Amino acid sequence: MPVKTIIEPFRIKSVEPIRWTTRPQREQLLKAAHHNLFLLPADDVLIDLLTDSGTGAMSTHQWAAIMEGDESYAGSRSFVRFRNSVQDIFAYKHVIPTHQGRAAERILFSIACKKGDVVPNNTHFDTTRANVEFTGAEAVDLVIPEGRQPSTRHPFKGNMDVAALESLIARVGRDRIPLVMLTVTNNSGGGQPVSMENAKAVSALCKTHGIPLYFDACRFAENAWFIKLREPGYESKTPKEIAQEMFRLGDGCTMSAKKDGMANIGGFLCTNDDLVAQQQKDLLILTEGYPTYGGLAGRDLEAIAVGLGEVLDHDYLEYRIASTRYLGRKIADQGVPIVEPPGGHAIYIDAGRMLPHIPKHEFPGQSLAIELYRHAGVRSVEIGSVMFGEHARHELLRLAIPRRVYTQSHIDYLVEAILEINARKHDLRGLRMTYQPPFLRHFTARFEPI
Ligand code: F0G
Repeated sequence: MPVKTIIEPFRIKSVEPIRWTTRPQREQLLKAAHHNLFLLPADDVLIDLLTDSGTGAMSTHQWAAIMEGDESYAGSRSFVRFRNSVQDIFAYKHVIPTHQGRAAERILFSIACKKGDVVPNNTHFDTTRANVEFTGAEAVDLVIPEGRQPSTRHPFKGNMDVAALESLIARVGRDRIPLVMLTVTNNSGGGQPVSMENAKAVSALCKTHGIPLYFDACRFAENAWFIKLREPGYESKTPKEIAQEMFRLGDGCTMSAKKDGMANIGGFLCTNDDLVAQQQKDLLILTEGYPTYGGLAGRDLEAIAVGLGEVLDHDYLEYRIASTRYLGRKIADQGVPIVEPPGGHAIYIDAGRMLPHIPKHEFPGQSLAIELYRHAGVRSVEIGSVMFGEHARHELLRLAIPRRVYTQSHIDYLVEAILEINARKHDLRGLRMTYQPPFLRHFTARFEPI
């Protein structure tokens, strides 16, 4: 029998020390940060699971490529490498670099949308929604009903509800829908994948009505791996073949290279439409930079070019998805309610269910986030009433796993900490919001324990 344990498929060449704090120090730090973990100095965090965005470790090949960066203002050789590497997977005609995903979103929506328009998505990420709404258009989430229930299991909980999309098109009319978007994986819905079958159905419906289909491709490689694992007919395809097949179904994409680009900064916007590409490049020059660098250094383009190849590696993806599942199963099997099944980049604890004695307006997710930091020095992020106010559907705590950064013993430490808190969960108390910012309130809100 071969050895079955899935290991980190890398060895560590450069290490970054992490620092312990004492519990009394963390109490002080929490007070000084007004019980908002965004306001903590990162040096005082032992294990940082705030986000998987831009927090990954680069490989020796990426660091080597950085030295090859061509910093020419126009026509940089690094841009050519970047474009070739993007087109190898995404195959769209125009590739426009941007400093990160939301810059691609802003350019796409400010050209495509106007007041009164409607943009359907399986679930908009918060910056995506904000960029749609900023143009005066309406952002509509059409994930399948299973995707709205944390405890319901479904292999592709990120799927778009195709019937709902069809009736939306019939109701508002094709002319008010400038584009349809599919987010792979569905971050706001728990890092859940979209199946190829669903992407094909959405694509076919869009084609029937002449509506362009764009992908929010931030975690496309993780999505491809889930298709390989769960969708009949894809077992023997490579993640790259699966990704290529999916992107052929669309007309363009936005991408944050801070996730499945394996880089610390960067993004891009792709389209097949010549006219739209010209308008996008004109806007890019105004705010991001010349179209062969788009707000990035040549070395950043090199890091992304290499990263896009590495993220589709079989061993990497097998380890990535197995390690997220490992965390999810270890806590869920001991009774901690999570969004099931475990997603690609993060585990979401259902704090609303775990702490039913803390009402919504006392922020159960935030209470759990604070306790996890106080108890173990781990930083996570609330995704519930702090982030979305009265629009919050659930009270979740996200543990996002940076790529290639933490080892299994870090995760074992985290599991132990969560189970210890779960054993005395009835002692946790809610919080009162003492400063409520007008928008994006999770970044700067202040709290007081009750
Ligand atoms: N789309 C999705 C699905 C995302 O998860 C993000 C970022 C973006 C777009 C925007 O990309 O940050 O490069 O501008 N998500 C991060 C997170 C911030 O923590 O989930 P960006």
